[in-house]
Amino acid sequence: LVAHFQPKVLAGKRVLITAGPTSEPIDPVRVLTNLSSGKMGYAIARAAREAGAQVALVSGPTALAAPRGVRRIDVTTARDMLAAVNAEVAGAEIFVAVAAVADWRVKETSSSKLKKSAGAPAGLEFVQNPDILATVAALPGAPYCVGFAAETEDLSRHAAAKRARKGIPLLVGNLAQEALGADDTALVLYDDAGEHPLPRESKLAAARRLVAAIGQRMASPAA
Ligand code: CTP
Ligand code: CA
Repeated sequence: LVAHFQPKVLAGKRVLITAGPTSEPIDPVRVLTNLSSGKMGYAIARAAREAGAQVALVSGPTALAAPRGVRRIDVTTARDMLAAVNAEVAGAEIFVAVAAVADWRVKETSSSKLKKSAGAPAGLEFVQNPDILATVAALPGAPYCVGFAAETEDLSRHAAAKRARKGIPLLVGNLAQEALGADDTALVLYDDAGEHPLPRESKLAAARRLVAAIGQRMASPAA
């Protein structure tokens, strides 16, 4: 009902969102993953839909249901997520990367279950996963790209550096220890003009505020 009376700031826009963790196999029964619940990304998908957008949500494994009217594409690994994003990105005007993508995957996965009787594995070798956000941001005619950064300390320094490194106009920061799995969050927006802290509120309220901020920037790119 509330959504009904909100201005449709993203009316007709195509929005692509990544959310949740990725999960990287070690053997057929074991994975490497992280504590992302997907709540923030799903809240943004819902808020973008409420704002009139056509929303595709590329999601790692979560316990959440797709928001009403949102098309969800389920993926497992970072490489799956990149493939799904590549398949969806043409025509998207906005890309919001909220997923906690595993930075590394195990170099050689075992096709059979590792047995305890074989002794502890000598060590796992890792290879770096593709950076999905940086890949999309570097596309010719890239959509308006929004990144997320959950940091455990020095949020401003890390967030500003990350925004520059990824070549994106807008990066959203929060503190990992406060945001992970929680129902509320305190976001900080980083853009060309500097940093803009938002109030602590529910992830859905924060998502609606972020969507409004994105809509504003789409309407007047210089702002
Ligand atoms: N991201 C991505 N693909 C990756 C890693 C990150 O798309 N392989 C995106 C995330 O969805 C997020 C942003 O990049 O929007 C920042 O992610 P983060 O993990 O904070 O940045 P990294 O560049 O991986 O740096 P680090 O983890 O070392 O802080
Ligand atoms: Ca990372």
